[in-house]
Amino acid sequence: MELKLRPVTEADIKKILEWRNNPGVRANSFQTSEIKWEEHSSYWTMRLADKTNYSYIAVLEGTDAGLVRLDKKESGEYEINILIAPGFRGKGLGIATIAETKKIAAGFGITRLIARVKPDNIPSQKIFEKNGFERKGGNEEYVLYEFSL
Ligand SMILES: CC(C)(COP(=O)(O)OP(=O)(O)OC[C@H]1O[C@@H](n2cnc3c(N)ncnc32)[C@H](O)[C@@H]1OP(=O)(O)O)[C@@H](O)C(=O)NCCC(=O)NCCS
Repeated sequence: MELKLRPVTEADIKKILEWRNNPGVRANSFQTSEIKWEEHSSYWTMRLADKTNYSYIAVLEGTDAGLVRLDKKESGEYEINILIAPGFRGKGLGIATIAETKKIAAGFGITRLIARVKPDNIPSQKIFEKNGFERKGGNEEYVLYEFSL
């Protein structure tokens, strides 16, 4: 399996909305309502101009298969958000995407990564645990994971 990460560009925005509005992705997000094009495109236009946060497309053997975002939090750590496109799930891509994201984060000098995962989202909990993230508590809304680089 050859998985690579490449930076998101303007040309990816439409496809990301399709992935983001997929029912499986919505159910596992903290904002579960369907996202409208206007909101989505202005979010991504701003996001791509902002050099603090990072966004990558996971590319499996030449095919775009997912999205990973790194968002800087107030205390300096970066939060990971991931989605794998429908049709590509359950093949180990989530695990591989987080592994690649850790390498990129290390290259940027990021020292701490976190993730918040809904308590019933077992596949997502597994991809972080398999990448060495530690469970650091949470609440009824999410399990908090942490990884120090
Ligand atoms: C969560 C998500 C990113 C995982 O990516 P993926 O490529 O499907 O995951 P992988 O194939 O790398 O690994 C998933 C692991 O969970 C396991 N798994 C999958 N479905 C499962 C289920 N219903 N119950 C228990 N384990 C399950 C897999 O077997 C695998 O573990 P294994 O390696 O021990 O076999 C992907 O499913 C997704 O995009 N879901 C929708 C969006 C989402 O939930 N994003 C995360 C928000 S925090």
